[in-house]
Amino acid sequence: MSRRLSGKHILVTGAAQGIGLAIAKACIAEDAALFLIDMDGALLADEAQTLLSSGARLGYARADITDAAAIHTIVAQAGREIGPINALINNAGINVFSEPLETTDAEWDRCFDVNLKGAWNCCKAVLPGLIEQGGGAILNIASTHAFTIIPHTFPYPLAKHALLGMTKSLGLEYAARNIRVNALAPGYVSTQKVIDYWNSFADPIAAKAETMRLHPGGRIATPEEIALAAVFMISDECPFMNATCLTIDGGLSVQQHP
Ligand SMILES: NC(=O)c1ccc[n+]([C@@H]2O[C@H](COP(=O)([O-])OP(=O)(O)OC[C@H]3O[C@@H](n4cnc5c(N)ncnc54)[C@H](O)[C@@H]3O)[C@@H](O)[C@H]2O)c1
Repeated sequence: MSRRLSGKHILVTGAAQGIGLAIAKACIAEDAALFLIDMDGALLADEAQTLLSSGARLGYARADITDAAAIHTIVAQAGREIGPINALINNAGINVFSEPLETTDAEWDRCFDVNLKGAWNCCKAVLPGLIEQGGGAILNIASTHAFTIIPHTFPYPLAKHALLGMTKSLGLEYAARNIRVNALAPGYVSTQKVIDYWNSFADPIAAKAETMRLHPGGRIATPEEIALAAVFMISDECPFMNATCLTIDGGLSVQQHP
């Protein structure tokens, strides 16, 4: 086992599958102790039990990040189970894709409740502990949707733009407290969320082929490739990286045309 995250007690949200689960596994491989949360309690329990049986130091709980009171309670529980939380990876997020004028108030609210307010609920719950401990790190899993727009995906990119704004704001507010707040912006990553996106088209196979065609390297990222960057950003290997965003999209978002 490599020990790049020894001494880290990390809360990871949305950890039952996809990018969150890959991040959890990568952090465990670097000797971190973890507390995992996800609103899919059954899936989370399955994955957590597998990790525990292979020797991981972790606790877990079913929780919805939109429930601020529950998150507050869970941070205290996590502190008792794995030690005081000194790092947070805000990964839980949902796609809400529509046309602007067809977006219902309920869709708008759900999009911002999970993708922005949920992340803030977790920041708000851990920040007092980080201040008390004299420092820590927060990593928000944003998206290339945090600075570019794909038509017909309203209002998801708005929430990710705001998440990047929150990253910058909190990074500045708490820099003097030795707390780093950064964001990671993946492009397309091979998770269920992307499969669901392709399946929303009349011809999912053509939609997938078009996604691959748009990428300079002809493929999308694996969750493990995103996790490699997350480990670096939450570790002590980048102590002056703060209030910024690292893009991992294979070059997708810098090209003028595919
Ligand atoms: N997959 C991609 O292509 C991609 C690209 C850019 C950014 N992202 C971002 O990465 C993050 C993870 O995406 P993914 O593709 O792994 O998603 P996923 O759907 O595979 O997994 C997300 C997990 O979050 C959990 N979750 C959702 N809402 C929650 C809530 N309110 N409270 C607690 N848990 C909740 C889900 O149960 C699920 O287990 C998201 O923030 C997403 O916006 C994904």
